[in-house]
Amino acid sequence: MMKRMPTDVKLLLQEGAELTDRALETLIPSIETIPASIHGAMRHSVFAGGKRLRPVLSMQAAVAIAGTLPKGIERLGAALEMLHTYSLIHDDLPALDNDDLRRGKPTCHVAFGEAIAILAGDALQTRAFEVLAGLDAPPPAVVKIIALVANAIGTVEGMIGGQVLDLESEHIKPTPELVAAIHRAKTGALIRVSVVAGGIYAGATPEDGTRLDLFGRKIGLAFQIVDDVLDMTEDSAHLGKTAGKDLAMEKATWPAVYGVEQSLRDADDLVKEALAALDPYGDRAEGLKSIARYLVERKN
Ligand code: IPE
Ligand code: IPE
Ligand code: MG
Ligand code: MG
Ligand code: MG
Repeated sequence: MMKRMPTDVKLLLQEGAELTDRALETLIPSIETIPASIHGAMRHSVFAGGKRLRPVLSMQAAVAIAGTLPKGIERLGAALEMLHTYSLIHDDLPALDNDDLRRGKPTCHVAFGEAIAILAGDALQTRAFEVLAGLDAPPPAVVKIIALVANAIGTVEGMIGGQVLDLESEHIKPTPELVAAIHRAKTGALIRVSVVAGGIYAGATPEDGTRLDLFGRKIGLAFQIVDDVLDMTEDSAHLGKTAGKDLAMEKATWPAVYGVEQSLRDADDLVKEALAALDPYGDRAEGLKSIARYLVERKN
């Protein structure tokens, strides 16, 4: 067991990101490995500088359950980050959001071409499941994590389903129900499962699982609401991705339904509700709570 992480959120994020990056470094084939182009493309997108929020959420959920950071959890974080990066590579493709800037760098398809970018996304997904299958946790926990993660990025209320709804909702005036369904699926599901999987890795009971699921559900929605607001209020240099894109593409966003002010209030309220779900854990959940608060205060 490693020592408990500090509760100061900047340090928490930095240490979690470093742990994750070291794991990613060893888990993704080197740039010399044949075929070199795809490993270059995978590494280009993974190491372009993401916040590593999903790994950090899974680590802090584990701390809330076990009191300390369980050994090997950085590989769970790395797998979640590979899946997230795969979703970003495909989200940016010309056929989807058609973006040329991501994490402050040219998008994967701009740097490596569309074919390699598509395959790099696919490869990050398959590698992620290979890593999950080898996690250092009791086999029933590993199987449960794999099933939940696969479900969260699938078509029924999962990431891919959400991306489909998002694309099919361009150019229409979204209803509150539609935008909630899009956000819960395209972004909320992976965030929720990151929290839950971290808990399961640390030995969560079914009751713990229910609480973490509720917490993850609320912060997952809040996270995408804030992403929508930042797209309108920050510039591209700050975001590391093209600002103002949602309005230009007439995307179904939270501010499109409620306006920016109400969106920020909604995100705040969701995080407050999320925090309440962690009350039974007392101090052990301080890290997880501080990440939740950071989600609505962040500027990129
Ligand atoms: C951006 O996610 C894409 C969404 C799901 C809204 P992040 O804001 O976590 O992006 P990175 O990982 O820090 O680049
Ligand atoms: C992306 O939503 C959700 C994913 C599944 C990647 P967005 O399209 O709003 O993400 P950004 O703003 O491009 O990062
Ligand atoms: Mg998109
Ligand atoms: Mg996008
Ligand atoms: Mg966005």
